[in-house]
Amino acid sequence: MRIDILSAVPNLLQGPFSESIVGRARKAGVVEVEVHDIRRWTTDKHGKIDDTPFGGGAGMVMAIQPIVDAIADLQSQRDYDEVIYLTPDGQRLEQSTVNQLSLSGNLLMLCGHYKGIDQRIRDHVITREISIGDYVLSGGELAAAVLADAIVRLIPGAIGDGESALTDSFQDGLLAPPVYTRPADWDGRQVPEVLLGGNHAAIEEWRMQEALERTKRLRPDLLDEA
Ligand code: ADE
Repeated sequence: MRIDILSAVPNLLQGPFSESIVGRARKAGVVEVEVHDIRRWTTDKHGKIDDTPFGGGAGMVMAIQPIVDAIADLQSQRDYDEVIYLTPDGQRLEQSTVNQLSLSGNLLMLCGHYKGIDQRIRDHVITREISIGDYVLSGGELAAAVLADAIVRLIPGAIGDGESALTDSFQDGLLAPPVYTRPADWDGRQVPEVLLGGNHAAIEEWRMQEALERTKRLRPDLLDEA
Protein backbone atom coordinates (compact mmCIF):
# COMPACT_ATOMS: atom_id res chain seq x y z
CA MET A 1 0.00 0.00 0.00
CA ARG A 2 1.03 3.61 -0.52
CA ILE A 3 -0.32 6.57 1.43
CA ASP A 4 0.30 10.13 0.18
CA ILE A 5 -0.51 12.97 2.55
CA LEU A 6 -0.91 16.60 1.53
CA SER A 7 -0.16 19.00 4.35
CA ALA A 8 0.55 22.65 5.10
CA VAL A 9 2.77 21.59 8.04
CA PRO A 10 4.51 18.42 6.84
CA ASN A 11 7.04 18.46 9.70
CA LEU A 12 4.23 17.67 12.12
CA LEU A 13 4.02 14.24 10.56
CA GLN A 14 7.67 13.19 10.70
CA GLY A 15 7.50 11.65 14.18
CA PRO A 16 4.38 9.50 13.92
CA PHE A 17 5.57 7.81 10.74
CA SER A 18 9.16 7.18 11.82
CA GLU A 19 8.60 5.13 14.97
CA SER A 20 6.99 1.96 16.22
CA ILE A 21 4.77 -0.18 13.98
CA VAL A 22 4.38 2.35 11.15
CA GLY A 23 8.10 3.21 11.14
CA ARG A 24 9.04 -0.48 11.00
CA ALA A 25 6.43 -1.24 8.33
CA ARG A 26 7.89 1.51 6.15
CA LYS A 27 11.44 0.22 6.63
CA ALA A 28 10.30 -3.32 5.82
CA GLY A 29 8.61 -2.11 2.61
CA VAL A 30 5.13 -3.14 3.82
CA VAL A 31 3.84 0.39 3.21
CA GLU A 32 5.07 3.61 1.62
CA VAL A 33 4.04 6.85 3.34
CA GLU A 34 4.92 10.13 1.64
CA VAL A 35 4.12 13.51 3.17
CA HIS A 36 3.99 16.43 0.72
CA ASP A 37 4.08 20.14 1.45
CA ILE A 38 1.15 21.80 -0.34
CA ARG A 39 3.31 24.90 -0.83
CA ARG A 40 5.27 22.98 -3.44
CA TRP A 41 2.35 23.46 -5.83
CA THR A 42 1.35 27.06 -5.15
CA THR A 43 1.81 29.50 -8.02
CA ASP A 44 1.45 32.47 -5.67
CA LYS A 45 4.66 34.48 -5.74
CA HIS A 46 4.64 34.82 -1.95
CA GLY A 47 4.00 31.13 -1.45
CA LYS A 48 0.50 31.70 -0.06
CA ILE A 49 -1.82 28.73 0.28
CA ASP A 50 -4.81 30.51 1.85
CA ASP A 51 -7.38 32.96 0.57
CA THR A 52 -10.23 35.12 1.88
CA PRO A 53 -13.74 33.66 2.11
CA PHE A 54 -16.44 34.97 -0.23
CA GLY A 55 -19.14 36.64 1.84
CA GLY A 56 -16.64 37.79 4.47
CA GLY A 57 -16.33 36.58 8.03
CA ALA A 58 -13.48 35.54 10.27
CA GLY A 59 -10.74 33.18 9.13
CA MET A 60 -9.20 32.15 5.86
CA VAL A 61 -9.98 29.32 3.42
CA MET A 62 -7.35 27.06 1.89
CA ALA A 63 -6.65 28.30 -1.63
CA ILE A 64 -8.07 26.17 -4.44
CA GLN A 65 -5.13 26.23 -6.88
CA PRO A 66 -2.39 24.50 -4.81
CA ILE A 67 -4.77 21.77 -3.62
CA VAL A 68 -6.24 21.00 -7.00
CA ASP A 69 -2.85 21.05 -8.74
CA ALA A 70 -1.27 18.87 -6.05
CA ILE A 71 -4.03 16.27 -6.27
CA ALA A 72 -3.95 16.29 -10.10
CA ASP A 73 -0.16 15.90 -10.08
CA LEU A 74 -0.27 12.96 -7.65
CA GLN A 75 -3.18 11.37 -9.54
CA SER A 76 -1.17 11.56 -12.77
CA GLN A 77 1.40 9.27 -11.10
CA ARG A 78 -0.98 6.64 -9.70
CA ASP A 79 -4.64 5.82 -9.21
CA TYR A 80 -6.00 6.36 -5.72
CA ASP A 81 -8.75 4.24 -4.18
CA GLU A 82 -9.84 7.26 -2.15
CA VAL A 83 -9.03 10.95 -1.87
CA ILE A 84 -9.71 11.55 1.82
CA TYR A 85 -10.25 14.94 3.42
CA LEU A 86 -9.64 15.08 7.19
CA THR A 87 -12.15 17.46 8.70
CA PRO A 88 -14.15 17.72 11.94
CA ASP A 89 -17.41 17.67 9.95
CA GLY A 90 -16.53 14.42 8.18
CA GLN A 91 -17.88 10.94 8.92
CA ARG A 92 -16.70 9.86 12.37
CA LEU A 93 -13.96 7.25 12.09
CA GLU A 94 -14.76 3.71 13.20
CA GLN A 95 -12.87 0.42 13.02
CA SER A 96 -15.09 -0.84 10.18
CA THR A 97 -13.96 2.06 7.96
CA VAL A 98 -10.33 1.44 8.93
CA ASN A 99 -10.70 -2.24 8.02
CA GLN A 100 -12.17 -1.33 4.64
CA LEU A 101 -9.47 1.27 3.88
CA SER A 102 -6.72 -1.17 4.86
CA LEU A 103 -7.59 -3.18 1.73
CA SER A 104 -6.72 -0.23 -0.55
CA GLY A 105 -3.76 -0.02 -2.91
CA ASN A 106 -3.17 3.74 -2.79
CA LEU A 107 -4.70 6.38 -0.55
CA LEU A 108 -4.42 10.16 -0.78
CA MET A 109 -5.13 12.22 2.35
CA LEU A 110 -5.62 15.98 2.46
CA CYS A 111 -5.17 17.71 5.81
CA GLY A 112 -7.55 20.62 6.32
CA HIS A 113 -6.45 23.97 7.75
CA TYR A 114 -7.86 27.38 8.57
CA LYS A 115 -11.63 27.39 7.95
CA GLY A 116 -11.27 24.46 5.58
CA ILE A 117 -11.36 23.99 1.81
CA ASP A 118 -13.71 25.32 -0.88
CA GLN A 119 -16.95 23.33 -0.95
CA ARG A 120 -16.55 22.64 -4.68
CA ILE A 121 -13.37 20.66 -4.02
CA ARG A 122 -15.28 18.66 -1.42
CA ASP A 123 -18.10 18.05 -3.90
CA HIS A 124 -16.02 17.17 -6.95
CA VAL A 125 -12.55 15.96 -5.96
CA ILE A 126 -12.74 14.48 -2.47
CA THR A 127 -14.19 10.95 -2.32
CA ARG A 128 -14.40 10.54 1.45
CA GLU A 129 -14.47 12.92 4.43
CA ILE A 130 -13.32 11.65 7.80
CA SER A 131 -13.35 13.08 11.32
CA ILE A 132 -11.50 11.35 14.16
CA GLY A 133 -13.91 12.67 16.78
CA ASP A 134 -16.18 15.49 17.88
CA TYR A 135 -13.51 18.02 18.76
CA VAL A 136 -11.51 20.47 16.70
CA LEU A 137 -7.78 20.07 16.12
CA SER A 138 -5.51 22.81 14.81
CA GLY A 139 -5.32 21.02 11.48
CA GLY A 140 -5.93 17.66 9.83
CA GLU A 141 -2.35 16.39 10.34
CA LEU A 142 -2.86 14.63 13.65
CA ALA A 143 -6.10 13.16 12.29
CA ALA A 144 -4.23 11.88 9.21
CA ALA A 145 -1.60 10.36 11.51
CA VAL A 146 -4.32 8.60 13.51
CA LEU A 147 -6.03 7.31 10.38
CA ALA A 148 -2.80 6.15 8.71
CA ASP A 149 -1.62 4.45 11.90
CA ALA A 150 -4.90 2.59 12.33
CA ILE A 151 -4.76 1.44 8.69
CA VAL A 152 -1.10 0.45 8.52
CA ARG A 153 -1.22 -1.83 11.57
CA LEU A 154 -3.77 -3.98 9.71
CA ILE A 155 -1.62 -4.52 6.62
CA PRO A 156 -0.22 -8.06 6.59
CA GLY A 157 3.41 -7.94 7.72
CA ALA A 158 3.07 -4.72 9.74
CA ILE A 159 2.62 -6.48 13.06
CA GLY A 160 4.95 -9.29 14.01
CA ASP A 161 2.34 -11.39 15.76
CA GLY A 162 -0.17 -11.80 12.95
CA GLU A 163 -3.02 -12.54 15.29
CA SER A 164 -2.58 -9.50 17.46
CA ALA A 165 -4.44 -6.96 15.27
CA LEU A 166 -7.41 -9.33 14.98
CA THR A 167 -7.82 -9.40 18.76
CA ASP A 168 -7.83 -5.59 19.13
CA SER A 169 -10.74 -3.84 20.74
CA PHE A 170 -13.60 -3.20 18.25
CA GLN A 171 -12.56 -5.94 15.80
CA ASP A 172 -15.39 -8.15 17.06
CA GLY A 173 -17.56 -5.23 18.14
CA LEU A 174 -16.36 -5.59 21.74
CA LEU A 175 -13.71 -3.96 23.90
CA ALA A 176 -10.67 -6.20 24.40
CA PRO A 177 -10.47 -8.24 27.63
CA PRO A 178 -7.94 -7.30 30.35
CA VAL A 179 -4.35 -8.55 30.06
CA TYR A 180 -1.88 -9.55 32.79
CA THR A 181 1.83 -10.26 32.95
CA ARG A 182 4.39 -11.37 35.55
CA PRO A 183 4.51 -11.56 38.52
CA ALA A 184 1.42 -13.69 39.11
CA ASP A 185 1.29 -12.26 42.64
CA TRP A 186 2.01 -8.52 42.70
CA ASP A 187 1.91 -7.27 46.32
CA GLY A 188 -0.90 -9.69 47.05
CA ARG A 189 -2.86 -8.84 43.92
CA GLN A 190 -3.42 -12.05 41.98
CA VAL A 191 -3.73 -12.79 38.28
CA PRO A 192 -7.07 -14.52 37.56
CA GLU A 193 -6.55 -18.23 38.21
CA VAL A 194 -7.84 -19.39 34.83
CA LEU A 195 -4.97 -17.63 32.98
CA LEU A 196 -2.39 -19.69 34.85
CA GLY A 197 -3.96 -23.08 34.15
CA GLY A 198 -3.08 -23.66 30.50
CA ASN A 199 -6.64 -24.71 29.57
CA HIS A 200 -6.99 -22.80 26.31
CA ALA A 201 -10.71 -23.37 25.89
CA ALA A 202 -11.33 -22.09 29.42
CA ILE A 203 -9.07 -19.09 28.79
CA GLU A 204 -10.91 -18.21 25.58
CA GLU A 205 -14.26 -18.52 27.36
CA TRP A 206 -13.01 -16.29 30.22
CA ARG A 207 -11.72 -13.67 27.75
CA MET A 208 -15.03 -13.59 25.90
CA GLN A 209 -16.96 -13.14 29.18
CA GLU A 210 -14.60 -10.37 30.32
CA ALA A 211 -14.83 -8.62 26.95
CA LEU A 212 -18.63 -8.75 27.13
CA GLU A 213 -18.73 -7.56 30.73
CA ARG A 214 -16.28 -4.72 30.06
CA THR A 215 -18.19 -3.61 26.97
CA LYS A 216 -21.53 -3.70 28.86
CA ARG A 217 -20.04 -1.59 31.64
CA LEU A 218 -17.95 0.92 29.65
CA ARG A 219 -19.49 1.05 26.18
CA PRO A 220 -23.06 -0.27 26.21
CA ASP A 221 -23.66 1.64 22.95
CA LEU A 222 -21.45 -0.92 21.15
CA LEU A 223 -23.76 -3.74 22.20
CA ASP A 224 -26.83 -1.75 21.12
CA GLU A 225 -25.25 -1.39 17.65
CA ALA A 226 -24.60 -5.13 17.44
N1 ADE B 1 -9.28 18.67 11.62
C1 ADE B 1 -9.55 19.39 12.73
N2 ADE B 1 -10.21 18.65 13.63
C2 ADE B 1 -10.37 17.41 13.07
C3 ADE B 1 -10.99 16.21 13.49
N3 ADE B 1 -11.59 16.11 14.68
N4 ADE B 1 -10.97 15.15 12.67
C4 ADE B 1 -10.37 15.26 11.45
N5 ADE B 1 -9.79 16.36 10.99
C5 ADE B 1 -9.78 17.43 11.79
